[in-house]
Amino acid sequence: MWGPEGLDEVEAELLGPQEELKGRDVLELGAGAAQCSRWLAAQGARPVALDISHRQLQHALRIGGPVPLVCADAGALPFADGSFDLACSAYGALPFVADPRVVLREVRRVLRPGGRLVFSLTHPVRWAFPDEPGPEGLSVSGSYFDRTPYVEQDDDGRAVYVEHHRTLGDRVRDVVASGFRLVDLVEPEWPRWNTSEWGGWSPLRGRLIPGTAIFVCVRD
Ligand SMILES: C[S@@+](CC[C@H](N)C(=O)[O-])C[C@H]1O[C@@H](n2cnc3c(N)ncnc32)[C@H](O)[C@@H]1O
Repeated sequence: MWGPEGLDEVEAELLGPQEELKGRDVLELGAGAAQCSRWLAAQGARPVALDISHRQLQHALRIGGPVPLVCADAGALPFADGSFDLACSAYGALPFVADPRVVLREVRRVLRPGGRLVFSLTHPVRWAFPDEPGPEGLSVSGSYFDRTPYVEQDDDGRAVYVEHHRTLGDRVRDVVASGFRLVDLVEPEWPRWNTSEWGGWSPLRGRLIPGTAIFVCVRD
């Protein structure tokens, strides 16, 4: 699943035709509980699920499955050059790092020539709107161009959650400057069948503004 709209890889085939996933080495970044990797393994691919959070990987372990789990920072990948055919990420790692080019260059390094990276994140236009599913989430409340990160702190003032904003143009430049060719930018529309709300995502907002941006990149 690429995002709250419900677009899944069976429908989208952004990693390539489903029947060609078999035997492919795939790196999942910011895998969380590794649900994408488990789906990839079921297609006959050879995924590795990477996340910086030990806790998230414990959930993956609890759920089980044949997927190797790696606890590491996406900006310092513990793999040799050219180890993977594909890399993917559903809302993982990239929105949470201050310098996404460090991650993108690392992914490029571990991909084989011709390899593909597909990643999704919150559509940048959402930054200008309150993160609310109702009508209050439909009025611009901040600047789309303000790159100040969103930070939550604990009682001691330590950052416990940080999300970094880039404009759509920033994201395109990051991809290209890191040595990838951008071959598609998918903005899934909210489908009629999806009646669920999740955080700031809802049918009401989904009908009017994009919620997810999916970048499809090739390492030539
Ligand atoms: C919003 S969750 C997405 C999880 C999963 N991909 C999914 O679809 O449910 C973001 C994940 O990125 C991970 N993450 C954040 N920064 C990271 C980094 N620098 N390196 C690797 N993983 C990171 C978090 O620990 C978290 O599990």
